[in-house]
Amino acid sequence: MSRRKYLALLPVTLLVVSCLWAQSTHVPELPAGPMQAKATTACTECHETRIILQQRLSKAAWTKEVDKMVKWGAVVDPQDRDVLIDYFSSSFGVDLKEYVPDRSARVRGKKVTK
Ligand code: HEC
Repeated sequence: MSRRKYLALLPVTLLVVSCLWAQSTHVPELPAGPMQAKATTACTECHETRIILQQRLSKAAWTKEVDKMVKWGAVVDPQDRDVLIDYFSSSFGVDLKEYVPDRSARVRGKKVTK
């Protein structure tokens, strides 16, 4: 194949690669609830959801966590603070079962030993 033909295939290659990339980097959503939209806006500006989904914290710890994030720059309406803390502590409290991380496609389905 000539160089020019290879070049013509470039957009197709890029499209396939970007689709595969998008598939392998699926980011889970925050749980449904009255604060889902606001929490997604305020809390995924600097990091994605998984850092939140894997927490198992008491209400006191969530209070500290949300206040710390606000101090670090999270934009939370003061009126929403308490509701947001309730949303996180009822969604990701200490009694929730252990978080199971979503593995990348390469190792998905295989048993991962600790
Ligand atoms: C201004 C940027 C920013 C925003 C907005 C933000 N965070 Fe963070 N968050 C950070 C940084 C930086 C870390 C530390 C990341 C690390 O340790 O790798 C972090 C870490 C965390 C952690 C892991 C525990 C910890 O304290 O390190 C949790 C849970 C968390 N954020 C929750 C939230 C929640 C809930 C919100 C929304 C109220 C939020 N974040 C918004 C910057 C932000």
